[in-house]
Amino acid sequence: DCDELALSWDNAAMSSLPSQLAARIESAIGVDPQLRPATKPQFGHFQSNVALRLAKEEKRPPRDVAADIVAKLDIEDLCETPEIAGPGFINLRLRTDVLARVASDLVTDPNAGIAQAEKPERVVIDYSAPNVAKQMHVGHLRSTIIGDCFNRVLSAQGHTVIPQNHIGDWGTQFGMLIEYIVEKRMDVDDFDLSGVEQLYQDSKKTFDADPQFADRARRRVVKLQGGDAETLRIWRTLIDISLEGFNATYARLSVLLTDEDVAGESSYNDDLPRVVDELVADGLAVEDNGALCVFVEGQDAPMIVRKRDGGFGYDATDLAAIRRRVGKLKADRIIYVTDVRQSHHFEVLFQVARMAGFLPDDVEAEHVGYGMVLGPDGRPFKTREGGTVSLSDLLDEAETHAAPNIALAAIKYADLSNGLQKDYVFDAERMVQTTGDTGPYLQYAHARVSQILRKAAAEANPNVDPEADLDAMDWGRISVLDEPAEQQLALLLSRFGEIVEVVATDLTPHKLCTYLYELAGAYSVFYEQCPVLRSTGEVRGSRLALCAATRRVLGRGLDLLGIDAPDRM
Ligand code: ARG
Repeated sequence: DCDELALSWDNAAMSSLPSQLAARIESAIGVDPQLRPATKPQFGHFQSNVALRLAKEEKRPPRDVAADIVAKLDIEDLCETPEIAGPGFINLRLRTDVLARVASDLVTDPNAGIAQAEKPERVVIDYSAPNVAKQMHVGHLRSTIIGDCFNRVLSAQGHTVIPQNHIGDWGTQFGMLIEYIVEKRMDVDDFDLSGVEQLYQDSKKTFDADPQFADRARRRVVKLQGGDAETLRIWRTLIDISLEGFNATYARLSVLLTDEDVAGESSYNDDLPRVVDELVADGLAVEDNGALCVFVEGQDAPMIVRKRDGGFGYDATDLAAIRRRVGKLKADRIIYVTDVRQSHHFEVLFQVARMAGFLPDDVEAEHVGYGMVLGPDGRPFKTREGGTVSLSDLLDEAETHAAPNIALAAIKYADLSNGLQKDYVFDAERMVQTTGDTGPYLQYAHARVSQILRKAAAEANPNVDPEADLDAMDWGRISVLDEPAEQQLALLLSRFGEIVEVVATDLTPHKLCTYLYELAGAYSVFYEQCPVLRSTGEVRGSRLALCAATRRVLGRGLDLLGIDAPDRM
């Protein structure tokens, strides 16, 4: 029956070769074989020590147990005959025709073997979130780069990603900024981004030094909240100037964020009284010393949802944000990307949101905290003058060593290739190298494989346009995988989809980086050991297809990291 066939074929495409194999073994013997990549090529592709484990329980010789297991397996369509090695390891070698088939499919699949999610979700990702009238600092850059990577990975799986740029566009600091502008008779329309940043510093100085000004600034906050037209106009203009600056940064970083994704703190103002009413009605929020508080089990301090002066803060705004993301945006999953130092804030926030019913059990909420960027001295990165470091400082520094798209690749890769929680040292000179575990090295690997394909295309047809799209050409299929280096490369290629799944679930981009780095390494070994353009006949065609598959996966993988994959370097 045709329909049934189509279904089982789809299911097979859903998971990678190794996981299919593991599942087949598990269903035959009833336990997870815990397949590991083989440590040496002569041990095949995967090894299992399941016989050793079972032998202990059954008090039988492990090699006998292994023989029994092998007899039960029905995996001829995927593997060569399993071998039993040493004390009782089971060595598995995928059939080369199977590897060739899976790797060949990548050549023409624009998604390079990334399976579409069985249940597509609506995923809100809260990232970037700089503050109006302040420099976007290194921390916001990390958030922007990491969140953008999550956006790309989850979108590639067919989820609906809804970015939310929770910019800091509200709060008492606006009273100070606006009052200063009014009193100094400044024309807000004359400001640019650096003017606004300067304004912040100047008005803050006056605010700290002059208590009467501070009073007037507070009264200005009340005017802002009360909707005074002139005050609102100045506030709006300050936001527009900052947004223009943020957008320039996003363009320079080439990230996906747009104005449509901006949902600043101020956009929750009208929801705040309702949120508080609901908390009070549920008996969750109680008065404590004039403030309205929610006490949470296991936490020393309560969450303050309304301050003594009647104002709302960061916490209350985030409650309103969750409520809207679930209620209006219909999120199935919410991901926050901020500095790891905010992890306690989110822990309490999620607890309160669950208690209040804003965050139902079937909606997942996760905070992904990242570490600091350190200077060469191992201390938080600062400019020479001791100020916070901006994007332009970082890129300018990296661009003293490399071209802009390479400098950007260097920064993004450095940001994503370590465990996110870890601090990392910003070493521009190392990061831009085209050797070692760097973004430019992967770009270079992509350019190198493109170069071979371009040469092959030119040999086949001397009139071919050197700029022609290599993706659009017919590279045929992989049919010969006799060399270990070819097999190793095809095996790694076949694992791409599985790696992307892990990254999407655990939100661990460094695993994708490690994978791509290994892939580039396997390609180098292949390139040294297996001539491509100098070989002939079927071997040549097959190796070219293998190159095309490598290019596809490297290109798609870099794209998921937000890194440009050039054809030439
Ligand atoms: N603007 C905040 C900051 O600069 C980050 C906001 C993160 N998102 C949120 N929903 N709290 O630290």
